[in-house]
Amino acid sequence: MFSTSRTFRTLALLSALLSCEVSGSQAGSPSAAEGDPVQSCNKIASSISNNSAVSFPGSSQYAQDVFHWTASSADVAACSVEPGTAADVAIILRILGSDRTPFAIKGGGHATNPGFSSTKGVQIAMSRFSAVNYHPENQTVDVGPGLTWDDVYAALQPQGVNVVGGRVSGVGVAGFSLGGGYSWLSNERGLTVDNIVSYELVLPNGTITTVTENSQPDLFFGLKGGFNNFGIVTRFTMKAFPQGQVWGGLLIFGPNQTNEMNAATVKFASQTNDLKAGLITGYGFVPNVTLSTALLFYNAPTPPPGVFDDFLAIPTISSNVSTRNFLDLVQSYNSPLANGPRGRYQAVPVLSYTPEFLDAVVNETSTLGEKLNSTVNGSFISYAMEPFQSRLFSFAPQGSSAYPPDRSQVILPSNIYYAWSDAKDDDLMTSAIVESGNRLHQLAIRQGQDLTNVALYGNYAILGTPLESIYGQNLPRLQALKAKYDPQNVMDLTGGWKF
Ligand SMILES: Cc1cc2nc3c(=O)[nH]c(=O)nc-3n(C[C@H](O)[C@H](O)[C@H](O)COP(=O)(O)OP(=O)(O)OC[C@H]3O[C@@H](n4cnc5c(N)ncnc54)[C@H](O)[C@@H]3O)c2cc1C
Ligand SMILES: *[C@@H]1O[C@H](CO)[C@@H](O)[C@H](O)[C@H]1NC(C)=O
Ligand SMILES: *[C@@H]1O[C@H](CO)[C@@H](O)[C@H](O)[C@H]1NC(C)=O
Ligand SMILES: *[C@@H]1O[C@H](CO)[C@@H](O)[C@H](O)[C@H]1NC(C)=O
Ligand SMILES: *[C@@H]1O[C@H](CO)[C@@H](O)[C@H](O)[C@H]1NC(C)=O
Ligand SMILES: *[C@@H]1O[C@H](CO)[C@@H](O)[C@H](O)[C@H]1NC(C)=O
Ligand SMILES: *[C@@H]1O[C@H](CO)[C@@H](O)[C@H](O)[C@H]1NC(C)=O
Ligand SMILES: *[C@@H]1O[C@H](CO)[C@@H](O)[C@H](O)[C@H]1NC(C)=O
Ligand SMILES: *[C@@H]1O[C@H](CO)[C@@H](O)[C@H](O)[C@H]1NC(C)=O
Ligand SMILES: *[C@@H]1O[C@H](CO)[C@@H](O)[C@H](O)[C@H]1NC(C)=O
Repeated sequence: MFSTSRTFRTLALLSALLSCEVSGSQAGSPSAAEGDPVQSCNKIASSISNNSAVSFPGSSQYAQDVFHWTASSADVAACSVEPGTAADVAIILRILGSDRTPFAIKGGGHATNPGFSSTKGVQIAMSRFSAVNYHPENQTVDVGPGLTWDDVYAALQPQGVNVVGGRVSGVGVAGFSLGGGYSWLSNERGLTVDNIVSYELVLPNGTITTVTENSQPDLFFGLKGGFNNFGIVTRFTMKAFPQGQVWGGLLIFGPNQTNEMNAATVKFASQTNDLKAGLITGYGFVPNVTLSTALLFYNAPTPPPGVFDDFLAIPTISSNVSTRNFLDLVQSYNSPLANGPRGRYQAVPVLSYTPEFLDAVVNETSTLGEKLNSTVNGSFISYAMEPFQSRLFSFAPQGSSAYPPDRSQVILPSNIYYAWSDAKDDDLMTSAIVESGNRLHQLAIRQGQDLTNVALYGNYAILGTPLESIYGQNLPRLQALKAKYDPQNVMDLTGGWKF
């Protein structure tokens, strides 16, 4: 068992020590006897098939391969490689493993922690794994780990089917699916990990295998939340189901509407039990005011009366809600680029959203937003509330996935996002986001929420978060699994949450 209180105390300490941020084990600390990346690049170039390609700094392919949603998550790799087949991924992993050369695996490049999908060694970009193959005979879809969800929805839409994937534009399939996956369809069908039926995986020793619940139940569990600890995924096979027109879009409210927005959010979170309905309430500081937003979703052409009436009755600055196709809804909140060149996420999971909690979120947004705007070049801060419904974790059994470690109660994952311009402000902004999350966490506890077994979501949690706060009681099982499938510690050469 683990305690998020302990997490946040640890984080408070960490925030005082942030100068050692990227040397932590989670960023993939370089091992003692590291290989020379350029030599590995040349070996890879001469070993792979013509389905794959190595690029060096200066080329446009290299620039695409190292590109990340937020530039602070990118690094200057010695070279990049775009594998085109699982066999080439196997060759690459064998070379990197025997050379002990640091590397990174990038899907959509949306990781907000530096070093999770970037490296000074060899950047592997999965972009050539871009197939979407729907199998109507067994209602599954093969999805390439180089795609964004936009690509997947665009390919499936003409066939009238869908999968449980991302909620906003630009996010990668791979990291999202390997971490958990909170979707607009999760109230009806669970997390993305609950809807994956098989993985094609290149193991750390270069063996290509297909992992299903029957073939390797231990790996099947580990891949559902365990990110890149067990090798490189070259294909996801997901459940497919019919998808028609949906309803929703983005509402933006002025500062005077915040109280009404909070009231509508609390009511929605506590009373709505229509599984087709989804909501993300956001707060952002735009000098010198706090604006709120509501991203509405309903999985039918029109929501029944009552579900969103409170939101629709509040005067808006901007409103773009309509009946539309699923891809269009996802693209109504378009974030192809981050709000600043540098950025971090932090998770503040809670069990419920109370009026006092949302008031505190608004106060954090206003107080910190104003303070940081006057001291930090290009700062932007926002807070996202995600009121999922109580059945969210009931679509798969306890113990079926690395994340979440406890399915007995629903977690509202909740996300803070800070962005800024200059690297010199990294420590200050990282401390600020950690401390803000800490204050909100403590407030929720003071309000009586028992957050003891409430795991942080690995795709939101900031670098430095203790592993047991993400994986809880599953951590020993995951560490044993990692030791079994990666005895040579090949995957320690890449960044991320490391078992
Ligand atoms: C704008 C935005 C919106 C978001 N919305 C949501 C949301 O609605 N719901 C939600 O759950 N999350 C959301 N997230 C979080 C998102 O799930 C993570 O950022 C996720 O890691 C992105 O996946 P990626 O492939 O783009 O990331 P990457 O940075 O490419 O990869 C993330 C991690 O996965 C590993 N990885 C990538 N590909 C592979 C592979 N083929 N094999 C093994 N390991 C691999 C990488 O090494 C890295 O550690 C959002 C993030 C952003 C920035
Ligand atoms: C790739 O190599 C194969 C033989 O290994 C060859 O048949 C094919 O034409 C080559 N393709 C390209 C695009 O060069
Ligand atoms: C689904 O059908 C495809 C095509 O026939 C097949 O390749 C695949 O193995 C099947 N998948 C499952 C899970 O049965
Ligand atoms: C919003 O509230 C402020 C006080 O907080 C008031 O000065 C202002 O006039 C209000 N604006 C509108 C459009 O109601
Ligand atoms: C925001 O408020 C601060 C402090 O009150 C002030 O210095 C600054 O000029 C204001 N900025 C804008 C854009 O109004
Ligand atoms: C509203 O959404 C449509 C897509 O449905 C988009 O084309 C349009 O630009 C959006 N309008 C605003 C104001 O965001
Ligand atoms: C608002 O937030 C600031 C910064 O965290 C804090 O110092 C202050 O006590 C908060 N105010 C209220 C009323 O909670
Ligand atoms: C604060 O915000 C204003 C308005 O967006 C902007 O002009 C100013 O540059 C910001 N301050 C800093 C320090 O970035
Ligand atoms: C603020 O950041 C921008 C880049 O976003 C840069 O061009 C500018 O010089 C910076 N301003 C200061 C005062 O450092
Ligand atoms: C690679 O690892 C797998 C899983 O541990 C194992 O079954 C296989 O024998 C290994 N292959 C080689 C060549 O070592």
